[in-house]
Amino acid sequence: MTINEPSFWEGLYDRGGDRWELGRPTPPLEAYLRRSPPPRGSIAVLGCGRGHDARLLARLGYRVWGFDFSARAIREAHALTEPEGLEIVFEQRDVFALGRDYAGFFDGVWEYTCFCAIDPLRREEYVGLVRRLLKPDGWLLACFFPVREGTGGPPFPATRAQIRRLFLPAFVFVEEYVPAESAEGREGIEWMVRAAARAEAAPAPPP
Ligand SMILES: C[S@@+](CC[C@H](N)C(=O)[O-])C[C@H]1O[C@@H](n2cnc3c(N)ncnc32)[C@H](O)[C@@H]1O
Repeated sequence: MTINEPSFWEGLYDRGGDRWELGRPTPPLEAYLRRSPPPRGSIAVLGCGRGHDARLLARLGYRVWGFDFSARAIREAHALTEPEGLEIVFEQRDVFALGRDYAGFFDGVWEYTCFCAIDPLRREEYVGLVRRLLKPDGWLLACFFPVREGTGGPPFPATRAQIRRLFLPAFVFVEEYVPAESAEGREGIEWMVRAAARAEAAPAPPP
């Protein structure tokens, strides 16, 4: 079993190994949306887990889709969302397969702790996927974590230089900073980036 299979993630949820769970929306996202919310539109939340960020975005008027490998996470996301009466589409999916159904569909993508969960060998593929999901003038809002040297994971670390090298062919970084609002234990190793899709860099469809 590898991190490329849903059973790996399902097992972590089942065993209570989901130590990433904050039980609330990502604090740097909350702060960003208070300060400079992107225009309302459709947003994909990749590796959405129990959907705390998806619900935050939906409460603020965005049309939200949450995707995750884990059926259990998606079930719990539904259960947490229903009482609020929010309309969010949650799908149990491999994000790498989304290009087939959602190419050019989203105004924005929110990335938090999905990039660090995927196999580092698939990072270029992930960047291509994110770009492919977006409209030509779409945007990516990301809080990268953990941002440091190193190799082991998940969570698999990446340096700012590595992230720039991967994303800049397809995106222009419009804003970037180390957030002051990180959750406990994540201070100083998160990096917020807002990026605009490069129109000329829309990757070719998968074979
Ligand atoms: C570290 S957890 C973070 C969850 C959520 N973003 C949060 O902060 O609570 C990573 C999540 O990505 C999901 N995931 C990993 N690889 C995936 C893939 N290829 N497709 C869909 N989801 C994936 C896992 O099931 C897990 O829920």
